[in-house]
Amino acid sequence: MRPSSERMTMPVADGVAREDESLVTVLGLAGSPRRHGNTETLLDWCLDGARAEGADVVKFRLCELDLHDCRACDGCWKDGSCIVDDDMGRLYPYLRTADAIVLAAPTYFMGMTAVAKMMVDRCQCFWALKYVLKRPLRRPGSPERLGAYLSCSGTTQPRAFDGGREVMKSLWHVLEVTAAGELLVSGVDAKGEIAGRIDAREKAEAIGRRLARGQRLEKEER
Ligand SMILES: Cc1cc2nc3c(=O)[nH]c(=O)nc-3n(C[C@H](O)[C@H](O)[C@H](O)COP(=O)(O)O)c2cc1C
Repeated sequence: MRPSSERMTMPVADGVAREDESLVTVLGLAGSPRRHGNTETLLDWCLDGARAEGADVVKFRLCELDLHDCRACDGCWKDGSCIVDDDMGRLYPYLRTADAIVLAAPTYFMGMTAVAKMMVDRCQCFWALKYVLKRPLRRPGSPERLGAYLSCSGTTQPRAFDGGREVMKSLWHVLEVTAAGELLVSGVDAKGEIAGRIDAREKAEAIGRRLARGQRLEKEER
C-alpha cells in the first residue's frame, strides 16, 4: 500500500500570501507510531491554526512512509542527493522548500522516536551539500523559514525533552530554519489524554497561526 499524506489548500487570508502571491506552505510531520495519538493531535491543532491563516498545509505520518536509515555511504557527497530510493524522495522537496516545518514526536527513552530520528538522519544529504560541496541549500535571497517542535512525555521528568530538543537544534541548523515555536507537554501518556489539555490546544493553534504569518518569536519568548 502506498503511504498516505494529506494535502489541503485554503484560500489565502489577508496578509498571508507573500508579495509574489504564492501561498505559504507548512509541512507537518507526525513522528509517532501511534496514529492520532497525543503528538499527532498537537500537530493537527497546529496545522489547523496554519490553515485558518490561509496556509497550504502538507502533512505526512512518518510511520506510514517507506523510510530507511542513513547508510553513511557518503553517496550524497557526490552531488548532495541521497542515493537511498525510498519515500524520503517525497519529503526532500518539502524539507528544502517549505516555508515552515513542524515536527511532532513524543519522548521515547529520553529522546525522539526512532522514525523521527531516522528522518532527521536522512537530512545528512543537506549537510553534505552545504559543508562538503559548499553549495547553498536555498536560493540566495529566499525568505526566512520557520520551524516548530511539538512533543509530549508520559512523565513529568524535567529533562524529558532535552534529547529531542538537541536533535531539533541540529536539524533546524542544517535546514536553515529559524525555531519559531516549541510546545512540550509533559504528563500525558495514554492515547487521547492530550484532548483534555485546552491550554495545549490554544498554544498549538497559536504556533500554527504564527508559522503561517511568518512571524518569528519575540526575543523574550525564545
Ligand atoms: C517506547 C516508549 C518509550 C517512552 N519513553 C518515555 C520517556 O523516556 N520519558 C517519558 O516521559 N515518556 C516516555 N514514553 C511515554 C510517551 O512519551 C507518551 O506516552 C506520549 O504521550 C506518547 O505520545 P503519542 O501519543 O504521540 O505517541 C515512552 C513511550 C513509549 C511507547
